[in-house]
Amino acid sequence: MFEIESNASESVRLHTKIYGVSCLLAGASKLLLHPFYRCGSYRTVCVPELEKASVHMKDPEHVKRVISALREAGADKLQVISDFDMTLSRFGFNGRRCPTSHNILDNSRVISEEGRKKLKDLLHYYYPIEIDPNRTMEEKCPLMVEWWTKAHDLLLQHKILKSDIAKIVKESEVMLRDGVDVFFDQLYQSNIPLFIFSAGVGDILEEVLRQAQVFHPNVTVVSNYMDFDDKGVLRQFKEPLIHTFNKNNTVLEGTEPFRQLSRRPNILLLGDSLGDLSMADGVADVENILTVGFLNDRVDERRGRYRDAYDIVLEKDETLDVVNGILCHVLREI
Ligand code: TMP
Ligand code: MG
Repeated sequence: MFEIESNASESVRLHTKIYGVSCLLAGASKLLLHPFYRCGSYRTVCVPELEKASVHMKDPEHVKRVISALREAGADKLQVISDFDMTLSRFGFNGRRCPTSHNILDNSRVISEEGRKKLKDLLHYYYPIEIDPNRTMEEKCPLMVEWWTKAHDLLLQHKILKSDIAKIVKESEVMLRDGVDVFFDQLYQSNIPLFIFSAGVGDILEEVLRQAQVFHPNVTVVSNYMDFDDKGVLRQFKEPLIHTFNKNNTVLEGTEPFRQLSRRPNILLLGDSLGDLSMADGVADVENILTVGFLNDRVDERRGRYRDAYDIVLEKDETLDVVNGILCHVLREI
């Protein structure tokens, strides 16, 4: 569980300072070596993190070209679109699974023993379908609607209070990926919009970000939000229902976040499901897009598809090191 220390923002600032200095040093050392400076290897594009053993790329030259184009165009043209569960949050820690935003609620004291068992049964039935490499998205879609609908109906039976959410999150075992503070701070300081598109529970994930002190004004979240009555009791989930395989313009069209998305032509997209790749669909006039996929589970079976679909695949990598390395290179001014 991430600890919320009283001096957390101080440590984030220090971290960011160190990060900024390291970016600066990396840039300065290049300048010193100029004109002889060449990237160490064609593969790394001056992003040493791409040499990590967890990194797999079907076409490293394409990755290099896109990263160079993102850097060339500059911060003003860039936006980041990211999934939340198992992308910004950790998949596992010390051999144990970390909770998704739904699981944070499921495992909390506000859910009865019986309710918890039913929610677990749903997870054990539907999650293997969600990640099954042998089923098509068309097959999976109605089953995901079924899962989300059943899970939300069970949650509704528990009369969850809005005022309990902060405590539920505080007492949970949620963990964000290593490097998440650097990631959020870097984007905030460079004025880069971060659009989090999640099939999780918006109220919960926003509280996770708030408690981690990274919910900066450049962050927009689109997710499944709870609707509370005037006594603060959960009465329904707001429409439209977002599940793993409809994270696209069908649920965004006509909304302000969707209009915002169309303002910047270069995109860094982060996800952990193949469904996350459609998060930027419908963004008008995309010039460059770099997709980074976290392959957390059933790695051997899914490796091929992930490499075909994502530009960069990070296998069993619980950190944001590679993403931070790319941002550091793209945003560095010298
Ligand atoms: P994401 O879009 O932020 O990744 O959130 C969706 C994840 O939530 C998806 O991978 C499955 C998970 N999930 C649960 O863990 N429990 C549930 O009850 C439901 C409906 C989804
Ligand atoms: Mg996810």
